[in-house]
Formats: sequence, structure tokens, C-alpha cells
Amino acid sequence: MTGFMGTGKSSVGVKLAQVLGYGYCDLDFSITKRAGKSVNEIFAEDGECRFRDLETELISEMTEIDRQVISTGGGAVIRKENRELLRSIGIVINLVASPEEVFLRIKSDASRPLLKNKMSVETIAEMLQEREPFYADADLRIDTVGKNVEDVVHEITLNLKGMM
Ligand code: S3P
Repeated sequence: MTGFMGTGKSSVGVKLAQVLGYGYCDLDFSITKRAGKSVNEIFAEDGECRFRDLETELISEMTEIDRQVISTGGGAVIRKENRELLRSIGIVINLVASPEEVFLRIKSDASRPLLKNKMSVETIAEMLQEREPFYADADLRIDTVGKNVEDVVHEITLNLKGMM
């Protein structure tokens, strides 16, 4: 699962894994476990580059994993290497939401360092635009606006039927 912050990668990922009878892995959670600190702390103490290195390290280790739904962090697709790795691991599903919708979903959540002190529809729109080509590099793109987790999972499973 790829997608911008607040597009529902984790909630959809957990439910999708349940429905498919697959394991589930949250990449950000694995990174914090390995680093022994929160995403905010990694960014503040070690820098974004260190966080991105950990992201690549963890994704590289997933190439042997089978029957798993993996939710990536919103920026995991920035590096070409990561996008290629994700493509080689399996089916890449990208979740989509408008800047306005993302803002409403994450505005009171302080756990995202890249939006710290600049949480606004405008910033989100700019970042989304910059990252659009990376998110577009997916096997399947699902718009999540106006849909609940079950709707999105249902739409994904319908699409996966022809792909697995
Ligand atoms: C990031 C998204 C976050 C987390 C980190 C960086 C990004 O994950 O990996 O704060 O660059 O978009 P979520 O998409 O799960 O919020």
C-alpha cells in the first residue's frame, strides 16, 4: 500500500490483510522498532535522510516475504530504488485522497514531522503534486474520498481478483 499521509494505508491495510488471510506489516512501525524511537524523534535527532535510509533498509528486507500486506509511509515512494523494490515484491496499491480530505483527516495529528507547524491544505496540495508521479507508479489506484475502510477494501479485492 502506498499513498500520501492520511489516505488510509494503515487502516485499509490491516482490514485488507484480514480479508485476504494475509499477514500485515506497517513499515513506519517497523522503522520505529528498529530505531528504538518515534518517527518524530528520528527526524529531529538523526534527520530525514536517516529515516529514508531505514525505510529503504526495511523494504529491501521484505523481498523474501510472501502473503503480506505492507503499508508504507507516505514518502517511501520518493526514492526510485524503493519504488522498484516495491514493484518487485508484489502488487502496489496506491490510495488517493484530495488535499482537503487529507487535511481534515490528519490536521490534529502531530505525529508527522513533515507537516509540523505547516499543516495546511496548501502545503498538502504542493507535496501531493510533487509526489504525484511517484504515487502514479502503482498497479492499482483507489480514490478513498467519501468511502469507508470496508468500501475501499471491497474495491481493492474486486480489482485484485484479476491480478493474483
Ligand atoms: C511521511 C509519512 C509518514 C512517515 C513520515 C514521513 C511522508 O507516514 O513515514 O512522517 O514523507 O509522507 P504516513 O503516511 O503513514 O503518515
